[in-house]
Amino acid sequence: MREHLILGIESSCDETAAAIVAGGRRILSSVVASQTDIHRKYGGVVPELASREHLRRIVPVVREAAGQAGVDLRDVDAIAVTRGPGLVGALLVGITYGKVLAMSLGKPLVGVNHLEGHVHAVLLEAHSAGRVPALPAVCLIVSGGHTILYHVKSESQNGGPPKFSYARIGGTRDDAAGEAYDKVARMLALGYPGGPVIDKLAAHGNPDAVRFSEPKIKGNPHDFSFSGIKTAVLYHLRRNPQLQPEIEVRQRAIARGERSAEALRALSTFATLDLIAGFQRAVVDNLVARTLDAATQRGVRTVLVSGGVAANSALRRAFETESPRRGIESYFPSRALSTDNAAMIAAAGHARFLVGDRADSTLEPAANLPLD
Ligand code: KG4
Ligand code: ZN
Repeated sequence: MREHLILGIESSCDETAAAIVAGGRRILSSVVASQTDIHRKYGGVVPELASREHLRRIVPVVREAAGQAGVDLRDVDAIAVTRGPGLVGALLVGITYGKVLAMSLGKPLVGVNHLEGHVHAVLLEAHSAGRVPALPAVCLIVSGGHTILYHVKSESQNGGPPKFSYARIGGTRDDAAGEAYDKVARMLALGYPGGPVIDKLAAHGNPDAVRFSEPKIKGNPHDFSFSGIKTAVLYHLRRNPQLQPEIEVRQRAIARGERSAEALRALSTFATLDLIAGFQRAVVDNLVARTLDAATQRGVRTVLVSGGVAANSALRRAFETESPRRGIESYFPSRALSTDNAAMIAAAGHARFLVGDRADSTLEPAANLPLD
């Protein structure tokens, strides 16, 4: 049987993305137009600017995805578009264009949950690498907008296509982990987004020099909290005013456009690098421990980690060392598929397409769309 070709469209936050994926596994193209440069000076995503930029980029991005794949849009089998969660105005651009394309080309439209996309980013690549993760799995989605644990299952009836189901195990009570990275980067003048620079700088500090206490959370033991860790950085800076002058120096460097990790490291003392390393250790240890505990408690031997923070090298290393000790296998997408992209939406859309899931012209953005 010919592999189904799915066009994926993603516009939930600050990346306008389109991709063509064959058979839910083979990426023929994946185009991501990032808006980071636009939002950088505000230190976070500005919703109105995001919508306007999606409007400007969506048509060329879809055209480029088709061109790179060498696929005529008339030959795709379905169009998969992110329905939520995300920014309503941003989602609306992708959904509207998806509907227009589906209608004009006479193709089925499939609405996809963005979080489900992140789950499929891992499955998609693991499959193409021939390392097929055994389900059920516990999936940690960890990004600038989300820190959430799901129990992922797949079931197929009478040898039919697998139907995926997701049950929420726990999630953050306050900040998402990526948001904590971004806020700490802002306090320390390390640019935006903060994750990639903190990732690089942390390697040059001593993670044991500044200790962070384990967040105390009542109730669900699988919930996360990162605002305490972020506040601990703030208090540390207040107690150590000698760190202030270098913050101002870095602020001026960033204003001049010198925002590479190397440039910022040259402007950071060991005291700052130690603080960064301690912060990252606290976040990573917390993510790894809670995810593996959730898997162990459920007797699940597969862990999937996805989302922007899944690009973090210390997080990857910690999962790679800790998982085998507990008899668990952990899987990550490549860095390109960790952050928002449309190949993951096409892959998740393919699974929904196979089980007959269809959307129509009434499809609307759902800012808080739950996955389970
Ligand atoms: O998935 P994503 O592109 O967008 C959201 O849905 O939020 O994730 C972006 C987030 C940002 O907070 C960014 O600081 C963080 O992921 N991030 C990282 C790394 N690369 C990106 N955090 C830690 N280490 C990294 N290497
Ligand atoms: Zn995302």
